[in-house]
Amino acid sequence: MTDRLRLGVNIDHVATVRNARGGDNPDPLRAALMAQEAGADGITAHLREDRRHIRDADMAALKEHLTIPLNFEMAATEEMREIALRTRPHAVCLVPEKREERTTEGGLNVAGQANELAYYMRPLQEAGARISLFIAADRAQVEAAHRTGAPVIELHAGAYADAWAEGRWADRDEELRKLTEMAAYAHDLGLEVHVGHGLTYDSVGPIAALSEVRELNIGHFLIGEAIFRGLGPAIAEMRRCMDVGRA
Ligand code: PXP
Repeated sequence: MTDRLRLGVNIDHVATVRNARGGDNPDPLRAALMAQEAGADGITAHLREDRRHIRDADMAALKEHLTIPLNFEMAATEEMREIALRTRPHAVCLVPEKREERTTEGGLNVAGQANELAYYMRPLQEAGARISLFIAADRAQVEAAHRTGAPVIELHAGAYADAWAEGRWADRDEELRKLTEMAAYAHDLGLEVHVGHGLTYDSVGPIAALSEVRELNIGHFLIGEAIFRGLGPAIAEMRRCMDVGRA
């Protein structure tokens, strides 16, 4: 098993900017291809029920043109499963979705619906998609995720990232402790562990240092930073911060 931590770049917010004006610019596919060129190990895109950023045609174009893996982030609905089965992405990340939220605010409540999720996931798994469940760093959720038969979990780093951003250092340390413990626990159960949400150059290091974590998914901060440095350099700097944290 290679120890290299993978970086998945989430390009949703390129589409957010495009949609603010209508039309085709900036093009999320172009951003994804640049990210690929800059060393991203995968591209993540979230097709939301309300299509507020990524659209169906974006997903099809990403799948057609990328040579690195596509991670299709979506809610566990019938509509999304049909689209994912048509798109045939490398991975599907199941997330909770609420219309009124600004972003994916919490983890999926797997503990309350493990059997239903296992049933929902089956056709996607049969079609070859690696399923990842986006959950809070909580033992009951990790256990339930394991029971569904999903090979991967993504731990929600939002509370850790928020505490960091707001300078609440005791909370940050507590959230990091939970992520650390649950990454180790999930790894012991045989799950592959990813982490994502809200990570920045500052906050990524301690997460990259967790040896059980195989992949980080990072979007909003990188797309913002691209305004100042360009997307390629923004990604290269994140890669550097991850490598320093890992070492
Ligand atoms: N991982 C998942 C499952 C997400 O829902 C998101 C946000 O869309 C991310 C990672 C990336 O979070 P951010 O855009 O805050 O870096």
